[in-house]
Amino acid sequence: MGEIVFTEKQEALVKESWEILKQDIPKYSLHFFSQILEIAPAAKDMFSFLRDTDEVPHNNPKLKAHAVKVFKMTCETAIQLREKGKVVVADTTLQYLGSVHLKSGVLDPHFEVVKEALVRTLKEGLGEKYNEEVEGAWSKAYDHLALAIKAEMKQED
Ligand code: HEM
Repeated sequence: MGEIVFTEKQEALVKESWEILKQDIPKYSLHFFSQILEIAPAAKDMFSFLRDTDEVPHNNPKLKAHAVKVFKMTCETAIQLREKGKVVVADTTLQYLGSVHLKSGVLDPHFEVVKEALVRTLKEGLGEKYNEEVEGAWSKAYDHLALAIKAEMKQED
């Protein structure tokens, strides 16, 4: 793949907004998962910590961990794209991500669901600081990270 252009401005927007959301992980991880389930109710059964409940559980460590991972890894991807023009996740991490998602029954379209939930959570958290430029920067970083994970999942088929 050719070099990806990710600007300093885009990197700064992603970093700044993650700093804001990071200040209330319980709130935003709950919002993030509520959005995932609103968009794709059937996704619930893939998550071990949601399988046996009717509601999105408050203060669940695994739920918070997944939300934080998605946001944080997307933020790290933004930095890599700006610095190196490509995604540079360690092979071992990527293999782990590939196998975890494959085992959980995650399919390509789920990545779009999670992206939409991420965008909605940013909107909620940033309020008037939210705009199309912020959304564009996060979307671009997320898409490249998702592409790397999906490619790994296909290798393991
Ligand atoms: C597990 C990251 C997208 C569903 C995990 C884990 C990581 C991770 C690191 C390991 C457990 C943990 O630390 O919580 C990511 C990243 C994503 C992504 C960075 C996108 C960029 C998705 C999508 C789905 C999904 C699109 C499906 C809607 C799951 C499930 C597990 C998991 C079901 C197992 C969790 C459990 O049952 O405890 N993910 N994920 N992930 N992920 Fe993702």
